[in-house]
Amino acid sequence: MEMIKLDLKNVYDFIPEQEIRGMQQEVSESMEKLNAGTGAGNDFLGWLNLPSSIAEEDFNAIEKTARRLRETSEIVVVIGIGGSYLGAKAVNDALSDNFASWRKNRKDPMMIFAGHNIDEDYMHELIRLLDDCTYSIVAISKSGTTTEPAIAFRILREHLVSKIGISAARDRIVAITDGSKGAMRKLADQEGYESYVIPDDVGGRFSVLTPVGLVPLAVAGFDIRQLVTGAVEMEQAARTEPSMEKNPAALYAATRNAMYRKGKKIEILVNYHSKLHYVAEWWKQLYGESEGKDGKGIFPAAVDNSSDLHSMGQYIQEGERILFETVLSIGETDNEMVVPKDADNLDGLNYLSGKKIDDVNKMAELGTTLAHVDGGVPNLRIVVPQLNARYLGQLIYFFELACGISGYMLEVNPFNQPGVEAYKKNMFALLEKPGFEAETRKIKDRI
Ligand code: PA5
Repeated sequence: MEMIKLDLKNVYDFIPEQEIRGMQQEVSESMEKLNAGTGAGNDFLGWLNLPSSIAEEDFNAIEKTARRLRETSEIVVVIGIGGSYLGAKAVNDALSDNFASWRKNRKDPMMIFAGHNIDEDYMHELIRLLDDCTYSIVAISKSGTTTEPAIAFRILREHLVSKIGISAARDRIVAITDGSKGAMRKLADQEGYESYVIPDDVGGRFSVLTPVGLVPLAVAGFDIRQLVTGAVEMEQAARTEPSMEKNPAALYAATRNAMYRKGKKIEILVNYHSKLHYVAEWWKQLYGESEGKDGKGIFPAAVDNSSDLHSMGQYIQEGERILFETVLSIGETDNEMVVPKDADNLDGLNYLSGKKIDDVNKMAELGTTLAHVDGGVPNLRIVVPQLNARYLGQLIYFFELACGISGYMLEVNPFNQPGVEAYKKNMFALLEKPGFEAETRKIKDRI
């Protein structure tokens, strides 16, 4: 099997190749910290050898759960937020038919999310949908105490129980949470829900290859073994290989740090395939939460082209020169469709007739890259031969490993997220949560 590759030829006009290669020592030191577990946040390194440590019995257990839920459910409602939602959403969307929810003879349950917002209309409309459909619930929270998924779980549990009764509902609920702590663990044990444990040493944004991602994906009918196989391939190729010549994750980490040091403070992950929108959302969380701290960090942004060329394209071409782009460049499409010939040619498109739509898309990609490079936006290209589970597994591990290396090069702890607590503290104070009395008094004086 081929591996995904990193193409830097549109970087070297901005940063000479030797300058990036000159960062080898720093890269090696960062990788040494990761692999020896001597860096900051070293109690959250379980993701490093996660792909290769998933055993046959782990797959079997997940597939057994999936079979049970698939038999009884048109929809699997996945409750979770942040790292407990974005991985499954990214893989689901990347590997699904764009119009899966509209297909009349769909055989796989649809994956729908809840608890990733606090939107009353969303929840109300979801309940209205679930009134008319069979469904099961996969509730995910590592801490087991996050407010958004907790609210959604409470509402959906009650709905399911009132719809099919307490005993049938028990068979349709799976909890994925801490092994011993948190409200969700307590609830799962008390109510007798089947449950899976999120390893202590894997943080939310690195958890897509734990039951957090694998259970919902298996229920929705995806080939989780292929996904993990791809991740294992990248783990074996890159995890302990310090040489940037051989390790694309190391090279990516070094290049983006080189960009940052030259004032390129925003990285835009670019795609030309609508199915990749949530891969970019997952990537934004991975890099934003890992690196944005201590007053430092590249701001991760994303565009969906060619749509966004008609909105953000102007800024990227001519706005502040603080940007660089990383393009997810997909080789082959799954389907073939050509531009038809038209006898009248009133739209002047006959010069394209007979051409694959993807050939046009590829010229849009190449033309945009060259235009942006000419406009002062360096361009990294990640070459993915095809959008399938195996290459997606490679890509996931590639980004995770590069994130760990890059975070250490930036001299931050890539595995914590202390900043996430600030909004929670204010929200709890405003909602007068017991235990937050002093904060409530303080915040009320402010408003
Ligand atoms: O990456 C992270 O740690 C966060 O995004 C969490 O995944 C998110 O806050 C949800 O947390 P939990 O799974 O504890 O409900």
